[in-house]
Amino acid sequence: MRKNVIAGNWKMNMTPSETKAFITDLAPMVKGMDKCDIVLCVPFVDIATAVEAAKGTNIHVGAENVHFAESGAYTGEISAAMLKEIGTEYVVIGHSERRQYFGETDATVNLRTKTALKAGLKVILCLGEVKEQRLAGITDEVVSMQTKLDLAEVSAEDLKNVIIAYEPVWAIGTGLTATPEQADETCGVIRATIAKLYGAQAAEDITIQYGGSMNDGNAKELLAKVNVDGGLIGGASLKTDKFTTIVKAAN
Ligand code: PGA
Repeated sequence: MRKNVIAGNWKMNMTPSETKAFITDLAPMVKGMDKCDIVLCVPFVDIATAVEAAKGTNIHVGAENVHFAESGAYTGEISAAMLKEIGTEYVVIGHSERRQYFGETDATVNLRTKTALKAGLKVILCLGEVKEQRLAGITDEVVSMQTKLDLAEVSAEDLKNVIIAYEPVWAIGTGLTATPEQADETCGVIRATIAKLYGAQAAEDITIQYGGSMNDGNAKELLAKVNVDGGLIGGASLKTDKFTTIVKAAN
């Protein structure tokens, strides 16, 4: 039985001192909610503080990106080894904001994924269609293609450390949520693609989250769907009470 994973994606929010205060507040609120994994993906400079504050709790810490090279002349970038050494467990790769504003492509998403896995990080791989693609009726083709390209050359063994976050781009930060049926259906298409690539068991085992305006009001319905194994949460992960309600729904 695969576990739900509820992951916050803080984006460019929260300073280290705010991070410490947030986790100190959140930890007692989610204590004992062990039927799902709880992850906070935070800005690079907040990671060390988050790891320290989360020690001894059921909260895991992730980064929001990682570079695809192991080291070298990439001014301003952060490597997987750097993340690993300071206690980072997860990393978000291929978020639509990275694809939209920073030129991220399926090719670089694939490189980053392989580098992160090699370093022993767990990957939260984001993919999803834009509005025009949904309206054109090609959502299934788009997510299936992204799944194949983003996971190219990732072994079945490494796939065990991959979570896929299905995030329809039109639903991110917009207040528009995919209906539970849409989320279930498209997560199902991704699962079927995994089955083709890695076999039925791998498809059964992989965690596929929904993300895009998931909040304390709609999480329960979305998470009730058979193909939705958790959420990647932006806005609603910045408030401890809202985030706790989502974790509760996943439990
Ligand atoms: P949102 O963001 O919950 O604010 O829509 C989700 C995400 O970007 O992962």
